[in-house]
This record gives sequence, C-alpha cells and structure tokens, in this order.
Amino acid sequence: MAEVPLAPLLVIRPGYPDFLDLPWHLPLSDWQAQQAPVEEIPIGLSRHPVIFVREQNQLYALKELPEQLAEQEYQLLRRLEELDLPAVTPVGHVRLQRGPETVSVLITRYLDYSVPYRLLFVQPDLDTYREHLLDAMASLLVQLHFSGVFWGDCSLSNALFRQDAGWLQAYLVDAETSEIHEPLSEGLRHHELDLMEENISGTLADLAAARELPADFPIFETGSSIRERYERLWHEINHSEKIGADQKYRIQERIRKLNELGFSVDEVLLRPVDGGNHLQFRVMVTDRHFHKNLLQNLTGLDAEELQARRLINEIQEMRAGLSQQQNRSMPLSVAAGQWFSETYRPLLERLETAEKGASSPLELYCLMLEHKWYLSEAASQDVGHQKALDDFIAQVLPKRTGSSVEPV
Ligand SMILES: Nc1ncnc2c1ncn2[C@@H]1O[C@H](COP(=O)(O)OP(=O)(O)OP(=O)(O)O)[C@@H](O)[C@H]1O
Ligand SMILES: [Mg+2]
Repeated sequence: MAEVPLAPLLVIRPGYPDFLDLPWHLPLSDWQAQQAPVEEIPIGLSRHPVIFVREQNQLYALKELPEQLAEQEYQLLRRLEELDLPAVTPVGHVRLQRGPETVSVLITRYLDYSVPYRLLFVQPDLDTYREHLLDAMASLLVQLHFSGVFWGDCSLSNALFRQDAGWLQAYLVDAETSEIHEPLSEGLRHHELDLMEENISGTLADLAAARELPADFPIFETGSSIRERYERLWHEINHSEKIGADQKYRIQERIRKLNELGFSVDEVLLRPVDGGNHLQFRVMVTDRHFHKNLLQNLTGLDAEELQARRLINEIQEMRAGLSQQQNRSMPLSVAAGQWFSETYRPLLERLETAEKGASSPLELYCLMLEHKWYLSEAASQDVGHQKALDDFIAQVLPKRTGSSVEPV
C-alpha cells in the first residue's frame, strides 16, 4: 500500500500569510513559477536551497534545512529581534516529511532594499561603499557582541547590506550557528574575530580567482581592517574613564558623544576613587538605534540609524525656525508633526513618483537633502526644499541606473 505523505506542519507568526497554498510536497529547488509565486533574486553563497516567494505583495525568503534546524534558527532570530539587533525578521518554520526524511524550512521576511556584498565588491566605482561595508560589518559585530551574541559564522555571505544616508548598515541573515551568552566571553569574542578574518579572506580570494576583483585588491588586509574598526568601536563603548570630582560635565559629554555615534545609553556606573578626589565612570549602552528610536517615536517612520540622524537634524532646524517665529520654545514633537505633514510627505510623494521603487523612499529623501546641502553651499544660501527637489529629480535621478546602489 502506498504511503500517504504527512501534511506539512506550519508554525507562522500572526499578521503573516498562512503559506498553505505553496507546493510543499516538492523540494524548494524544484519550485517553478507555474506552481508558486517564486521570484529570482541574486543571493550570497549558500549551502542550502534558498528561494523567494511573493505572498500578499510582500517577499519572503524560504530556506530548506535538515530536520529541526529551521526551528532552532527561527527561535534564535526571535531572540535577536527581542534584543533589537539588526537581523532578518523570522516569520515561521515548516516541518515536512519527504519519503523517509524529515526536513524543515525557515521563513523570513525578505530584507527590502538589501544588497548582497558581491554587488558592492565587483561593481566598479563603488570604493566608497566598500569602505562603508567594512564599517558596517564592524558595527554589526560590536552590536551582536555587546548583547552577548556569538554569531559563529560571520562572513560576507551571511550578512546583507542596506543603504543608510549614503553609508551602509549590515544585517545578520544566517543565524544557524549563533549562540546567546550573557555576557559573551573575551575568548569567544576573539575567536569570532579570527573566524571573521578567515572567512572574509577566503571569500575575497575566491572572488579574485574568478577575476571579479581588481588585481591590486587588498584581500588579506580587509578582514584585519574590519577587526581594527571593531576594536576601536568596542573600546569606545566599553572603556571606563577617570575624572576629577569637579568634572562631572564630562559624563554628559561622553553620553552625547555615544548618542552621536548612534548608541543609546541606559546607565552610568560611577565609583569614587582616590579617597573621593576622582570618579571612575563607565557608560552602559543598550543598542545602536538612538536616532532611529527617537524618529520612530516622533513620526512613526522606520529609518536606518544614519537616515534617522539626518532627519532628526532637519526636524531640529525646523523647531529652531518655529521657535524663533513664535518667540517661544517649541516642543520637538510639535516640530516633528509639522515637518512630517508639510515637508516630508509632499516631497516624498514627488520623489516616489519620479523614482519608481529601486531605492527606499527614506534613502531617496536623505540623498535629496544632501543635494540640497551641496546646492546651498554653491549658492552661499539655503536654496530651499522645492528647488533642491526639482534639481534632484532633473539632474541626479536620471543618472541612477536602476540598481539600488550607486557610486557616491
Ligand atoms: N530574509 C532574507 N532577505 C534577503 N536575502 C536573504 C534572506 N534570507 C536569505 N537571503 C539570501 O540568501 C543567502 C543564503 O542565506 P543563508 O546564509 O541563510 O543560507 P545558508 O545556505 O544557510 O548559508 P551557509 O552556506 O552559510 O550555511 C544570503 O546570503 C542572502 O543573500
Ligand atoms: Mg549562509
């Protein structure tokens, strides 16, 4: 008697499609556009089949893994989400019986506007982005480590990159080998950095062998450059300082500096030393979303950290103007409301109509602000939003080739 295949068991978070209409009886690598809403998208190196499907106008990544592994990775990604770390969003996992084998599938939300590293390395004229990529990798590692996360397989293929006001933010995409420790030991931190250097040299050497890199590309210095950037940032958030008992203003200075770098500060540890003549202090950071969280609270916009910093600066400028006009101090929330409805929304509508979706609307807005700054510099006066927007649409947008990453 023929065996009846067991129905798939799907575990899906609320608010997402149920994925029941997909051809689960077939291996992912066999899914064709006729049977499922599959989309072809270039991906990083991967041992497991990864495909993308569109459901209710949103893209999802599906990765097929041996039994149990999808569930484990899903749980880990949920922990990373709780810790507010930059990683892909877990949506669910599926358990399937294929003949004698049980396999599992991880479902994550496709990270919109993300670029795999390959594009950044092989496309000519993107040297500035390559530099930003090293900073982005270092920052991601620092954020993971101060939250106690050992990635276990830090590599270029296991990260994705998103534009952030002309810079880049890195996201963790593969958490198969990750572990959460509280706190992460020095030994594991250094082990991770060693693995990172090894993985990155390996990937770049492969790209060079395939003649995809310029002949003089610093293959073996790239990993160590990420490590140096990481060490600088790690020191910046973890070192303690000794100040005179009458220099408490330096604590505020340090908090401001960390906020400026995007770190949110939760607590300050203080200890009187030298018989009370000095204070030893350390500032405890929680995440690197200081401006992102502020912007979200003020406007509901979900931006990257540097985009948010730029927009908060704009709101602050507007607040200063309004306070001056009305001759009274204006709350930031009032300025934010006015900025959103009178400046941001109308300008964004024009930008979106002109550009048609290759870049995130927030990134376009930030690029337009940068253009406004250049025009104002050249004119030695503020040219205003409308003029900057007209010029941006006429001069800058046509030069963009449709790829979401452009030479800067
Ligand atoms: N949610 C997502 N959004 C965008 N791209 C994704 C997403 N999930 C996976 N990808 C793409 O698929 C690639 C492979 O994913 P992943 O690294 O998780 O697979 P893997 O086969 O487990 O990798 P490894 O060989 O390292 O074990 C990634 O490099 C990325 O380009
Ligand atoms: Mg991977």
